Amino acid sequence: MSRSAAKLIGQFYSPEGVASTLVNWLAPSATDRLLDPSCGDGRFISLHRNSVGVDVSAISCVQARLRAPWATIHESNFFEWAKGTSERFDCIAGNPPFIRYHNFSGTLRRQALELCAQNGAKFSALTSSWAPFLVVAAGLLRPGGKMAFVVPAEIGHANYSATLLDFLITHFERVVVVAIKEKIFSDLSEDVWLLFATGKGGKARFVELAALEKFVASPSLPANMKKISVRALRENRMRLRRFILPDSILDYYANLPEKGRVVDFGSIARIGIGYVTGANDFFHLRPSEAKRLRIPDSLLKVSVRKGDQLRSRHVDSKCVESWIQADEPVMLLDLNGLKSLPSAVRNYLDSEAGRGAKRTYKCSNREPWYAVPDVFEPDAFLSYMSGKRPHLVGNRAGCVCTNSVHAVRLKRRMSLDRLVQAWEHPVCSLSIELEGHPLGGGLLKIEPGEANRILLVLGEDPKNNYDYELLKRGIDIAQSWRHCA
Ligand SMILES: C[S@@+](CC[C@H](N)C(=O)[O-])C[C@H]1O[C@@H](n2cnc3c(N)ncnc32)[C@H](O)[C@@H]1O
Repeated sequence: MSRSAAKLIGQFYSPEGVASTLVNWLAPSATDRLLDPSCGDGRFISLHRNSVGVDVSAISCVQARLRAPWATIHESNFFEWAKGTSERFDCIAGNPPFIRYHNFSGTLRRQALELCAQNGAKFSALTSSWAPFLVVAAGLLRPGGKMAFVVPAEIGHANYSATLLDFLITHFERVVVVAIKEKIFSDLSEDVWLLFATGKGGKARFVELAALEKFVASPSLPANMKKISVRALRENRMRLRRFILPDSILDYYANLPEKGRVVDFGSIARIGIGYVTGANDFFHLRPSEAKRLRIPDSLLKVSVRKGDQLRSRHVDSKCVESWIQADEPVMLLDLNGLKSLPSAVRNYLDSEAGRGAKRTYKCSNREPWYAVPDVFEPDAFLSYMSGKRPHLVGNRAGCVCTNSVHAVRLKRRMSLDRLVQAWEHPVCSLSIELEGHPLGGGLLKIEPGEANRILLVLGEDPKNNYDYELLKRGIDIAQSWRHCA
């Protein structure tokens, strides 16, 4: 199977040590019935004599039968099979396929989400496949049953993981998550962690979390796990990831608002996305093109189209001048509010490029098709995908921006210098790490909702109010967990 075909059905087999560790944690008795809902080549089910495997891939099922000839293997879509089976299990182990929502679609997703809803977990359509696998599998456990899974590290921060964790703590007596820093699958960009849940039918009062530097095969659970109360978890929107940090740092962070002029970014600014043209190449002209086409200057706005335009503390006339000198395609054709179109513009709209743009999904769904909505001049721009740190850059040149960066509008008058300075404070750096989320490959992403919660220190800090060493330690730890050197 090609790598891309394998990726489409999440076909990455677990290292043998991981499979044996998870089955050891489950410690099934000889009569216990064990299920792997996506058994691949059977490496989990081969570790127990009384086992059942399901896999959608015929080749995987053949491999699984060879590896565990005593096991019952069903070649089927797990959700389809789960709907029809009356069999119940004492324990479940495996590594569910990680298929992101855009490929986890159609009947498969509808069926999975319906089954999850019947089991008490309402996932949004943006859910990746692995979380519904866990919920539907849990629905096949006998009371008191247990399960152990390899899970994407997204369990620590994705929105849909909150739904999963909520399900787990309300359907199991004990929930353990083992975070692992060093990659288990070296050729995948995603990190994986381990999940262990026991006492199906009970309710957990806390989630136990271990943060390990690397995976080490072990018949027993890690020692010295942190207990995170359900309340603390809910207060943090079920985001487990931040609890990797030592409590001393988290406590300090939680009490920061009392330490002076610390505010949430969302309390002083509205952070949202920039405009969406539907046909970026058509709507953004190079200065030389605009001149050649005789587009009036009054219909052109200089735009921040990409995060890498945000290199200094402010976008000012010098930056704009440099983009124009370099003939960058940053001139947005803004035709909002025009009663009649100049002939040069009409010619451009009627050109082949214009006819192509008009047919795009976004343009064909708005009236008039050539007026790009939501064009405004924000007070600042925020890059939302970054390596070390996202940039907050003041807008001193009246530029507009696409949805490749976030647009920041201040709710009250304040100096842009002060804002940009606050963004560079170590409190803010730690906050960025805690509120944003890793994307793999060392990248950090900040959604507008996450940006709202980032803490800013406004004003001077003449008394050195903050424990800079502790903040730095927190930043270093968080960055090391997202593999940012
Ligand atoms: C990450 S692999 C894990 C295999 C095995 N559990 C392991 O850890 O080695 C995921 C498996 O899920 C299977 N799969 C994908 N979609 C499935 C579905 N809807 N129902 C059952 N199996 C599925 C793939 O064929 C693949 O073998």
